[in-house]
Amino acid sequence: MRKGTETSSFGVSARIGHNADKFYQSNLYKGIELTEETDFTINRLNTDITNKIFFHSSESMIELPNNSVHLMITSPPYNVTKEYDENLTLQQYLSLIERVMKETYRVLINGGRACINIANVGRKPYIPLTDYINQIMTEIGFNNRGQIIWDKAASAGGSCAWGSWQSASNPSLRDVHEYILVYSKGSLKRVKGVDTISKIVFLEWTKSIWKMNTESARRVNHPAPFPEELPHRLINLYSFENDVVLDPFMGSGTTAIAAIKNGRRFVGYDISEEYIKIANNRIACVSNSLFK
Ligand SMILES: C[S@@+](CC[C@H](N)C(=O)[O-])C[C@H]1O[C@@H](n2cnc3c(N)ncnc32)[C@H](O)[C@@H]1O
Repeated sequence: MRKGTETSSFGVSARIGHNADKFYQSNLYKGIELTEETDFTINRLNTDITNKIFFHSSESMIELPNNSVHLMITSPPYNVTKEYDENLTLQQYLSLIERVMKETYRVLINGGRACINIANVGRKPYIPLTDYINQIMTEIGFNNRGQIIWDKAASAGGSCAWGSWQSASNPSLRDVHEYILVYSKGSLKRVKGVDTISKIVFLEWTKSIWKMNTESARRVNHPAPFPEELPHRLINLYSFENDVVLDPFMGSGTTAIAAIKNGRRFVGYDISEEYIKIANNRIACVSNSLFK
């Protein structure tokens, strides 16, 4: 009989009949365990709750019962003095993220996924928001599924913030990437539903670097939209047809649009009436063209 390969100490390469037991039983994994959830109840959302954006803070998602959402995709405010940012201290900012992510945990089903698009900010010193948020997510109980690097290089503007020009005096890194942090609540597996992903894109999107152009703020009338391609990929990779996709920081409605186009339902929150209006207009345009 052919012997299965083992995980090498340098990571994982292509193989058949791979056996990773030795790796997961090694000292590296001592004290590191998956959080298990025993409640597999799914509370189906009524149609008067889905396909809506609620106008209040997602720190309290009172409209949503426990275990009712299959996938959360969001890009929170980065607290970098954008129009909608509240100039919070780092601690206040992280507390806001923690409150919203605790609510997200409550409303996700066992096996539901959470994907957070976030960048690190500043230079003097660099603030690794990804590290802090990852810590918060782990403390809440989310199981870490990995990180996607969003390579924005192709559409990144020619930022000149390189510090000392052509000199080792004080060169500064110019980030042309952001992150998508991926988590599961409880079970890593979902009970199978109707998949909507092709073989070719599955092979491509399970790789951890995604090249995607940025979205124009002017085009969608919001200061910090992500491109539709971002929720489009996450929805097809991490959810089944007719699932409910939550965005607790909905902005111009990009997650909702990707959800509708991919045969999912959405629910969202934003504290700006103006952005909700913009989102609802975009959603109506898409719905009209799809369902007329
Ligand atoms: C980075 S933007 C999201 C952009 C969105 N992904 C898009 O494509 O348009 C963050 C949004 O969060 C909203 N926001 C800030 N604090 C909030 C809170 N506590 N609850 C809900 N929304 C909030 C802001 O008004 C802003 O529209």
